[in-house]
Amino acid sequence: MEPELPKRLTKHIDRVVALASTLARRHGADDARATLAAQGHDIVRHWSDERWLAEAEARGIEVLPVDRANPVLLHGPIGAAILEERAWLTDPELVRAIRYHTTGHPSYTPEAWCMFLADKFEPRKLKRRPALQRVANAAEVGLLEGALAYLELMEGDGQAKGKAAHPLQTETLAWLRSAVRGRA
Ligand SMILES: [Fe+2]
Ligand SMILES: [Fe+2]
Repeated sequence: MEPELPKRLTKHIDRVVALASTLARRHGADDARATLAAQGHDIVRHWSDERWLAEAEARGIEVLPVDRANPVLLHGPIGAAILEERAWLTDPELVRAIRYHTTGHPSYTPEAWCMFLADKFEPRKLKRRPALQRVANAAEVGLLEGALAYLELMEGDGQAKGKAAHPLQTETLAWLRSAVRGRA
């Protein structure tokens, strides 16, 4: 999509596409839609903090204190806005999947969860952080189970570092806890 994407990023995107497709087939989600979300998810991941902040402000994207402290949180919302502006992606569900791919979202479809999970434990990330195996195992059981395991891991990381969670991460985690518990 963006010819100027650095090679390490295109390789990550390729791994996310492959795993999103595997997860979609495993869980009966739409492979083509999960793949499309994965292809577009990180189009501005390589930008600088300054550029994320400037481009978010230029587009009227809300910048919370947590985003200002950690501007990489803005790469999903900005990427989604650009895909819409350029009409590269017109399906609102897929645009939403990309917008919220750092935190997840209670409105996510199965295809969005496939992309989200693939982004979190694609093979290179799993190799670098073996604790993600728990997320991969949970994702074998179900997409929501996998997402819950991932956001619980993130919650623990945030607590260990004394960092505030994005409010949407907290909201998604609460939603997943009740959705997964409600099924049992
Ligand atoms: Fe990303
Ligand atoms: Fe990614």
